[in-house]
Amino acid sequence: MCKPDLRVRLCGLEWKNPVATASGTFSARDSGKYYDFSRLGAITAKGLSAVPWQGNPAPRVAETWGGMLNAIGLENPGADRFIAEELPFVRDCIGNAGTRVIVNVAGHSVEEYCMAAEKLDAADVDMLELNISCPNIREGGIGFGTDPRMAAAVTSAVRKRVKKPLIVKLTPNVTDITEIARAAEAAGADALSLINTLTGMRIDVKRRAPVLANGSGGLSGPAVKPVAVLMVWRVARAVGIPIIGMGGIMCGEDAAEFLMAGASAVAVGTAALANPAAPAEILEELTAFMAENGFADVEALRNALR
Ligand SMILES: Cc1cc2nc3c(=O)[nH]c(=O)nc-3n(C[C@H](O)[C@H](O)[C@H](O)COP(=O)(O)O)c2cc1C
Repeated sequence: MCKPDLRVRLCGLEWKNPVATASGTFSARDSGKYYDFSRLGAITAKGLSAVPWQGNPAPRVAETWGGMLNAIGLENPGADRFIAEELPFVRDCIGNAGTRVIVNVAGHSVEEYCMAAEKLDAADVDMLELNISCPNIREGGIGFGTDPRMAAAVTSAVRKRVKKPLIVKLTPNVTDITEIARAAEAAGADALSLINTLTGMRIDVKRRAPVLANGSGGLSGPAVKPVAVLMVWRVARAVGIPIIGMGGIMCGEDAAEFLMAGASAVAVGTAALANPAAPAEILEELTAFMAENGFADVEALRNALR
């Protein structure tokens, strides 16, 4: 049984393995209590805006069959506080283990995205991920991710103001995701990540009211995986830039599915809310799957689909 080579290259940067955490489901201070996240290829921080955001009123999460709904509304301390207080802690935990640090960028307008991105670009991070796909904020977010012209406008504006590799995170809440993917690529995205959550709703029939205070929320977890795999497969055939695939990854074989669909790397989100160490366990399972099935490297998996 061979020991697979897990290294991948994304936008000129080497990741030691293709497994990352998904934005909003990882915090160095909390997750770090349960496992050594410096084993991962990359970690992704929660969405950060130029100034602090309060997020939506509670209740902000609800369970569903095979997943969950959330409407956090991108509550965050703002880029400055993250850079001053969280990033040094993250870097300290990683030490010289080589785990890449991705920061997820949020905004209500093109200018707000640019302001947050510029601050984060100047900090000690490796890649920026532009969140144009959050379903839970009133202005910005998903509005940019559902219209190819707006997706291109915000991507090219941010691209001009930052030096680090720019990942654009796509929403599944569109008729044709390849249209948005191509627009982001043409506007200068270095990579794409998908999928963000699918818009959904639950109603408490006894209270006759939506379960979430926001009314609707974003569906994530294993229930969305087949949708996500198809979208990654379609986008991989539409663009030439690398893809970070996510949506319902619960085990190593799920991660392999996304890589076979054409992703260069994967991210684990909701699984880590149930079991904080899930990203590291999924990395172990993926490594074992590759070894047992004769995949020498990630490229071999990516080319395996018949
Ligand atoms: C509680 C929660 C918070 C999230 N916050 C963010 C966020 O801040 N920025 C973002 O781009 N995606 C965010 N997401 C979306 C995830 O990063 C991921 O794209 C999505 O949940 C699908 O993956 P999963 O099924 O493995 O969770 C969030 C998801 C959850 C469940």
